[in-house]
Amino acid sequence: MAEVIGLGYVVVEAQDLDAWREFARDLLGLQPTVDTPDRLLLRMDEKAYRLDIRRGDTDQVTAIGWEVKGPNELEEIAARLESNGYSVKRATDDAVTERQVSGLVEFDDPAGQRLELFWGLLEARQRFVSPTGASFVTGRGGMGHVFQFTDDGPAQGRLYQDLLGFRLSDLIEFAPGASGTFLHANERHHSFAYASVPGLSGFGHLMFEVTELDLVGRAWDKVQDGAAPIAATFGKHTNDEMLSFYVVTPSGFQVEYGFGGKLVDDATWAPARYDAASYWGHRRSDPSEPDV
Ligand SMILES: [Fe+2]
Repeated sequence: MAEVIGLGYVVVEAQDLDAWREFARDLLGLQPTVDTPDRLLLRMDEKAYRLDIRRGDTDQVTAIGWEVKGPNELEEIAARLESNGYSVKRATDDAVTERQVSGLVEFDDPAGQRLELFWGLLEARQRFVSPTGASFVTGRGGMGHVFQFTDDGPAQGRLYQDLLGFRLSDLIEFAPGASGTFLHANERHHSFAYASVPGLSGFGHLMFEVTELDLVGRAWDKVQDGAAPIAATFGKHTNDEMLSFYVVTPSGFQVEYGFGGKLVDDATWAPARYDAASYWGHRRSDPSEPDV
């Protein structure tokens, strides 16, 4: 069965590009390649971009780009989505060119989040150079992971597991009646996770993983000096063992920045169950927010 192989890119509409430039470049260590008053295109590895920030009237994640292996896989998954009631739009040539991919379709998930499936994201000719000296864990694991809140967990589970081919990594019951489901599409512990929390719906956070603990430590120092609002303090997750902190982006959603995530081998993996998201740390600035 054709399936998604990883997180490829994320597209954001933002009102304050100056704040994003500083946040992405100086704190996260992403490299701007297009940097105009209306658009910020950011690299984190050999790909032409991974984060595309467009200036607009709102602050929202306008597309999550999931990678598939090639044109046949793209068509197979698109047909599967359509036969399960999803309205899938084949992208125009202009849209394919703009995304710098080789094939592209788009549809909305059950929560109304725009998703894109693509293959063949452009490789840059120039070497990636981080403004902060950061290097990121990408490659077969994709650019990172996405965490989403949803009112309809079963519908998200059916979409991601039955139609897009993600596999269950584990579950966290972080509060009575509230649980998180963590799914992998490659060796990264999770590329997508969702939580059913009463009254919460929408994009939660985007995760960037760096190759050294010191990179997280230095960024954490900058956060403590005021580089970005803290959403959760430095801590260690239970399920993927990630050492990370969370900050609020200029668009209101959160970024998790961390090191040391566990890898999954499908041949030996068996999903576990946890009753907390963190062994230590990750203390939320807003205590009403779930610790995930
Ligand atoms: Fe995360």
